[in-house]
Amino acid sequence: MTIEGCRARRALRLTAGAALVLLAMTLTACKKEPNLTGKWTGPEKLLLNGETNNVLLQMTQTGNALTAQVQTPAFKTEMKGTVSGSHFELTAPWYPEQPFAVGDLVGSDLHVRWDGDNDLNTGKGQETVLHPATAAEVFPEPAYIAPPAIKPVGYNELAKKPPMGWNSWNLFGGSADDAVVRGIADAMVTSGMRDAGYTYVNIDDTWEGTRDAQGNIRPNRKFPDMKALAKYVHSKGLKLGIYSSPGPSTCGGYPASYGYEEQDAKTYASWGIDYLKYDWCSAGSIYKNDQLQPVYQKMGRALEETKRPIVFSLCEYGLGDVWKWGPAVGGNLWRTTGDILDEWDSMMKNIHEQVPSAPYAGPGHWNDPDMLEIGNGRMTNDEYRTHMSLWALSAAPLLAGNDIRKMSDATKSILLNKEVIAVDQDPLGKQATPVKNDNLETWIKPLKDGGVAVGVVNLDNAPVTATVKASDLPLKGSVSGARDLWAHTQVKFVKGEYSTTVAAHGTLMLRVR
Ligand code: GLA
Repeated sequence: MTIEGCRARRALRLTAGAALVLLAMTLTACKKEPNLTGKWTGPEKLLLNGETNNVLLQMTQTGNALTAQVQTPAFKTEMKGTVSGSHFELTAPWYPEQPFAVGDLVGSDLHVRWDGDNDLNTGKGQETVLHPATAAEVFPEPAYIAPPAIKPVGYNELAKKPPMGWNSWNLFGGSADDAVVRGIADAMVTSGMRDAGYTYVNIDDTWEGTRDAQGNIRPNRKFPDMKALAKYVHSKGLKLGIYSSPGPSTCGGYPASYGYEEQDAKTYASWGIDYLKYDWCSAGSIYKNDQLQPVYQKMGRALEETKRPIVFSLCEYGLGDVWKWGPAVGGNLWRTTGDILDEWDSMMKNIHEQVPSAPYAGPGHWNDPDMLEIGNGRMTNDEYRTHMSLWALSAAPLLAGNDIRKMSDATKSILLNKEVIAVDQDPLGKQATPVKNDNLETWIKPLKDGGVAVGVVNLDNAPVTATVKASDLPLKGSVSGARDLWAHTQVKFVKGEYSTTVAAHGTLMLRVR
């Protein structure tokens, strides 16, 4: 019974002049109605490095409504929720579709299931019991380390074309391990991905173990020997990437580089790492957005000082107009958006969100609308062709996020489309921007040879006729030849136009000379 329900019933019974004994029973029942205002603490999740992350949950209940601050080493965030008797549900702002935490007050403890921070291997929320937090148990804020004064980091001469490779996160999440990475490296070679230009094999979050007595970061049990793994990946003609955060913990709650920047950069270099994705995550609870630049500069400098060529990938979800200062911190690419999902709407949202930063893309420094979802199964092949086309037209990094070891022929034909890859890798390094006309969106990317790549995306759920007019293209002179990059055929402009049918959510992609 809710508190409101109690009050209403009480009033009804009083006006009805119900028997005193019934009134007393009702009042007793209502008095017992719990209020979930308070602070609780306890384990949130068991990490793959054997450590447990604690959580501090501070809740305020007003009627049936709940507001809460949820704090772990990885994040601190405000959530909202509802209470029904002793049962509560809390939802995180970044994913309102499902509760982040579901629980019950049992005695003075909270029994909670963390559905929004689910176990990366089982996909299920871990269940934990939180006890009322004493003052001593309130989360210690890490000591503040002031970021350095702004002083530009030199260009590392890397990523003259958008980086290409593979990243473990989109499909494998926390289950990527040494065997998976070796298998992917093998498959990069046998599938032809390496020869098509995919070079970096990037391990994302959850590889981290604990620090030794000297503060050196060690991988967890999933990666027994990072140096040996790098050697193996290098032996295949590929390069190895790794992941960390400028905060005390990564987004997955693992130890990160706060206060260990130089030491970690040296460690990565000693392992033979070639690429670092550096993810803002918990740095957001220590620094403000106007400190992004010096905070990223600190790691950029540390990488520079290792003298090893390491691609520096900034992951800050587009915060702080990163495209304006990314190169000054040594960044070779930077995220312009939140995390991509294997869904049409998410993919289109990400590519649209990075349009304003288009003028800032160029050799050595690229806008990154997040990794590819091609082949992960939740979009149609036409949608995946659009995904690949738009990333190529946008000169975006091409980091496959699927299981390269078992790709369908359709997936292979998309990821290995050399004509589309050539558009992405065009040395001019221009990023296309769209013009919308009803349900068709036309993206035009000028190319080094004086020609253009054109993508006409059908936003509609039904096939539609698309027309490309030569007069709309920034060409010197008339069209001397055009090629359909998905059909792999020459096409003819008649009276300055080319028309064809484009499938629902599909893309017509032409290279026009
Ligand atoms: C953030 C990043 C993702 C991924 C995860 C790992 O959400 O944006 O790309 O790296 O962290 O925890």
